[in-house]
Amino acid sequence: MRVRGAVRPPGDKSISHRALLLAALAHGRSELEGLLTGADVKSTARVLRQLGVDVSPVRAGGSVLVGGGRALARPAATLDCGNSGTTARLLLGALAGRPFAARLSGDASLRRRPMRRVTEPLRAMGAHIKEERGDSLPLTIRGGGLHDLTYTSPVASAQIKSALLLAGLVGGVAVTIREPYLSRDHTERLLVHLGLGLSYHDGAISLPRAAGSLPAFRLSVPGDASSAAFLVAAAVLAEGGELLIENVGVNPTRTGFLVVLGRMGARVERLNLRDEAGEPVADLLVRPAALRATEVAAAEVPTLVDEVPILAALASRATGETVFRAVGELRVKESNRLELVAANLRALGVAAEARGDDLFVRGTDRPPRGRVDTARDHRLAMAFAVLGTISGADVRLSERASVAISYPAFFADLRRIGEGGRGKGDAARHRH
Ligand code: S3P
Repeated sequence: MRVRGAVRPPGDKSISHRALLLAALAHGRSELEGLLTGADVKSTARVLRQLGVDVSPVRAGGSVLVGGGRALARPAATLDCGNSGTTARLLLGALAGRPFAARLSGDASLRRRPMRRVTEPLRAMGAHIKEERGDSLPLTIRGGGLHDLTYTSPVASAQIKSALLLAGLVGGVAVTIREPYLSRDHTERLLVHLGLGLSYHDGAISLPRAAGSLPAFRLSVPGDASSAAFLVAAAVLAEGGELLIENVGVNPTRTGFLVVLGRMGARVERLNLRDEAGEPVADLLVRPAALRATEVAAAEVPTLVDEVPILAALASRATGETVFRAVGELRVKESNRLELVAANLRALGVAAEARGDDLFVRGTDRPPRGRVDTARDHRLAMAFAVLGTISGADVRLSERASVAISYPAFFADLRRIGEGGRGKGDAARHRH
């Protein structure tokens, strides 16, 4: 297909979760604009309502009002976090600071994901956590009476870091966190924007004891760089034209995929760079490019952790073999992305393999043809749908509804950016 025109990705998922949570903890009524309307953010809104917070409906086009000021209150029923790991883990952090019991659960995918990475340090702070099935949900947490924590995380994870910062904030204790590589820093930026004194020293981040209370705030959430990545990829793979992707968050802890794309031969221009509540935002101008293989280093992985599926899809169109080092974390995302990216690429005729924690993808110029198992994972569905836009491709997805987790309008946008609209530029077909 050829690409043309301008498109706006949906609101940033990570920032939307954090904005809702911090607004719930703030004093007074906050107003959030551009919040993602995907299912994951609705999960956060729903559990906050169960905890006694007033959250207006999360709807496209409107702003969301959050009535903070009251402390999170004991929920009457299990908190259903749906498919959202961020909801579950950040909420565990906030609840560690509150003196009542709350039970958390989620869908089948979320119930397979590890929780001890968060519950172990929260226990070390003094929270009581009862497991029902080992290292996973459902869990019951009873918080309150916390003490200070200094913690070195074995994985670079913004969910761990944010959970501990929220525990410190709600519990009124000091926390210092070190991670092997810097993960996304949206929580820190928002806390600093709201006037809290965080400090950095020797690569560690510290929240002081009794950090203070949060004022109510207004926030316009930037577009999600991870959602924009699928549009960028579609434009890079196109046969011609150019695409403007407007209002994209370009926080450097999130834009590793642009760095890697640059090495692969596709330069994406950043226009109209601006600041939105402490987050850099730009419009991205993308043109088609011929790609060459690259090596993605372990230190880069946290900056592109959600973009490995789409980068692997792009690598399948590059000359040479691309290697992604140390991507073992992909096994514990919404699906086992490490194995499924490799298996699905093979199903489309691409040589791809997961060896240990590394992923290898050999590029080809044969059109991808075959059936893809998305495992109901939104990012797998979108990555392989983009591969389906190549001319001569025949990519059949097992389902497409999962895109509603992070990008409800994905298929409509993908169709719209392709010249000629439906038919000519259409993406992967759905298997009925
Ligand atoms: C997220 C952090 C990342 C990312 C997820 C969202 C966040 O997870 O994969 O999609 O909003 O904090 P980890 O913290 O587990 O790396």
